[in-house]
Amino acid sequence: MENFDYHISTDVYFGKGQISKLGEKTASVSKKALLVYGGGSIKKIGLYDQVMQQMKQSGVSVSELAGVEPNPRIQTVRKGVEICRKENIGVVLAVGGGSTIDCAKAVAAGACYDGDAWDLVLDAGKIKKALPVAAVLTLAATGSEMDGFAVISDMDKHEKWGTGNDVTRPVFAIMDPQYTFSVSKYQTAAGSSDIMSHTFENYFNNTKGAFLQARLAEGILKTIIKYAPIAVEHPRDYEARANLMWASSLAINGLLSYGESTAWSVHPMEHELSAFYDITHGAGLALLTPYWMTYILSPKTVGKFAEYGANVWGIDSSKEPMAIAKEAIADTRKFFDSIGMPSHLKDLGIDDTHFDVMAEKAANGGLANGFVPLGKEDVKKIFTMAL
Ligand code: NZQ
Ligand code: ZN
Repeated sequence: MENFDYHISTDVYFGKGQISKLGEKTASVSKKALLVYGGGSIKKIGLYDQVMQQMKQSGVSVSELAGVEPNPRIQTVRKGVEICRKENIGVVLAVGGGSTIDCAKAVAAGACYDGDAWDLVLDAGKIKKALPVAAVLTLAATGSEMDGFAVISDMDKHEKWGTGNDVTRPVFAIMDPQYTFSVSKYQTAAGSSDIMSHTFENYFNNTKGAFLQARLAEGILKTIIKYAPIAVEHPRDYEARANLMWASSLAINGLLSYGESTAWSVHPMEHELSAFYDITHGAGLALLTPYWMTYILSPKTVGKFAEYGANVWGIDSSKEPMAIAKEAIADTRKFFDSIGMPSHLKDLGIDDTHFDVMAEKAANGGLANGFVPLGKEDVKKIFTMAL
């Protein structure tokens, strides 16, 4: 295990009715809030009214940035930055899923930066300061409620990049699983796949002796395997929704990566699919992951895959490691199929037209440092397998 400085600074208020703390907690940060939300789901479930009531009770004035897109756009971030400057905003409150929270983070950083917010997307090192961000989570998926990352797109340029650092990590997050009862089957499955992928990106690494982190990761994977199908079939099952929601935060807030050298592999590839075809992030990850696993399986990596197969899928550990590894990858695909995720790019209307440029950009997104280093040609082969 490697050295690390533990710092996860988000205060979490988890469970039924925790929204009752929102007004007081927001007011303790600032009395001038920018409320950021998406296309209207928070109004349909009555959450918008609850938020406004909390703000009123606590004397917090509210400006609004509505209509944040799934795969949030830089153009929307710029609108939010303008409002922050004009209204002298003191806290950016995101109510929604990962896209809304990510947009809020970019707005919060953009408001404290003299140039254009896109500079901060291209170079996280330029983020020195941000307005405080807070979140009310409505979709278990990205973990944005408890991490510093923000993923922002410029669809005109087919660019989608992650940025952020500790100053954009939410100061607090309200997480009531009941707000996720209304999430569609598809988004529930995609969110669950995203949580699994964050866990895989940490789990498949080359650091020796991080035994504890590996067992924590396996626990999260087993949680998703148990509860995602339940939430897909029974959207109002509180136990399932609660387990998925907490897993979403723990998979990416640093808990799994402390003490390890991790560099992500499937996310940079998926971000290219989203940047060119505006697909749902988690669906792209579910699609690509088993192909990536198959591509990197070798005598060198088989040990880790056999560990995964035995500990997560319960495959008989007395079998040959290669047999366990192959069965584990097949189980992974079967699982994603069972919750309704796509398994071929053509199912999402994607062909090989842009493979060359997509592979090049993905490879430049840090793949050389992954569990198995990948270059442009490797990515093209993985995309081709996925056709
Ligand atoms: O826009 P609204 O009306 O809110 O509808 C959303 C949206 O259509 C809907 N939704 C959210 N909560 C709902 C609901 N519908 C009914 N009931 C509810 N309670 O779900 C749709 C998808 O929402 P979105 O926020 O886009 O989903 P998600 O949370 O999966 O976020 C995806 C974005 O996060 C980025 C992805 O790349 C993508 O842009 N990521 C962010 C990360 C981070 N910050 O750490 C890491 C991830 O790897 C990921 O890259
Ligand atoms: Zn993700």
